[in-house]
Amino acid sequence: HELEWDLGEIEKSGYDHFMLKEIMEQPTSLSDSMRGRLLPEDPRVVLGGLHTVWDQLVDADRIIIAACGTSWHSALVGEYLIESFARIPVEVEYASEFRYRNPILRDGDVVVVISQSGETADTLAAVREARKKGVLCLGICNVVGSTIARETDAGVYLHAGPEIGVASTKAFTAQVTVLAMIALKLAENRTLSTGEMAHNLHALASIPDKVDEVLDMNDEIREMASVYRYASNFLYLGRGYNFPVALEGALKLKEISYIHAEGYPAAEMKHGPIALIDRFMPVVFIAMKDSTYDKVVSNIEEVVARDGSVIAITDEGNGELDKLCEYVLRIPKTEEFLSPLLTVVPLQLLSYHIAVMRGCHVDQPRNLAKSVTVE
Ligand code: G6P
Repeated sequence: HELEWDLGEIEKSGYDHFMLKEIMEQPTSLSDSMRGRLLPEDPRVVLGGLHTVWDQLVDADRIIIAACGTSWHSALVGEYLIESFARIPVEVEYASEFRYRNPILRDGDVVVVISQSGETADTLAAVREARKKGVLCLGICNVVGSTIARETDAGVYLHAGPEIGVASTKAFTAQVTVLAMIALKLAENRTLSTGEMAHNLHALASIPDKVDEVLDMNDEIREMASVYRYASNFLYLGRGYNFPVALEGALKLKEISYIHAEGYPAAEMKHGPIALIDRFMPVVFIAMKDSTYDKVVSNIEEVVARDGSVIAITDEGNGELDKLCEYVLRIPKTEEFLSPLLTVVPLQLLSYHIAVMRGCHVDQPRNLAKSVTVE
């Protein structure tokens, strides 16, 4: 058991806050999550922690992922990943809801829980519920030897290193990375040819360097934050793989800057949030040039037509949004399924800088705890 992190490891290494340190160390934490597991040359994924249960997972009729907070957002990305690569139906549940409604669990179901701390009470209760019903229960945790890691049948550690800031950052990207590795491994002999597998594994392996490039935009993002720091509401919109990132961007802002923020699937905007839009409402769009791009652009036009101020995150080299948006952040291109690993980073930095400018207690926001061990 390694329940206590080495004290030397938890220094802020010259950063003002743990949150900023943890955002900045993502290229390293992501490489650590992939080390020894991602073998693009083979091409293959090795997940030792799932070895004993792999056959059962491959044959699952349904996967239920339960989690809370940021981990729940990574679960939503996991749903897209596993459904598209493994073609296994996935349901995502708030752990707190799952355990209180006598969930239907059958032979062939597999429950996966995601928890950075491995101590969240509701998530632990979901583990116990699954096990009580005799269903295989897997854990994706960061803290080695944590209660959830011990009580699950098998699992995968994030190996992201200690996360101290209450707002989760590097754990989210590590969770998405682990989920991508699981999805790709499930795709073996199923939906991907050897060539496609190699291509996707190489794309994942190149993510840490691309995250590094996104982090180079820190000054630009800080400047942008100074323009928006007085806003009292924000809307975050994305589609497909980036819908959960919109939720996560809004959560980050709420948690540490106390600005009201909502994340929505971009197309759902017209069923409510559009009523809120005026020139005082910044709207953050994740508008990557992927299968959803054209639709997202028409959503941006709808916001601009109502005087909303748009910040867009798009691909390097895309100048098409400049005329519509107040700010355009251009990040490196990657495969659509990996884009959450890049698009979330500017949103983490935006909320960090806004919170600092508003004088908020970034690492320990009011009313929040790093791990919630009560139900
Ligand atoms: C708390 C934290 C969040 C975290 C959530 C789930 O609310 O403040 O940052 O996402 O718990 O935590 P877990 O450790 O289970 O991932």
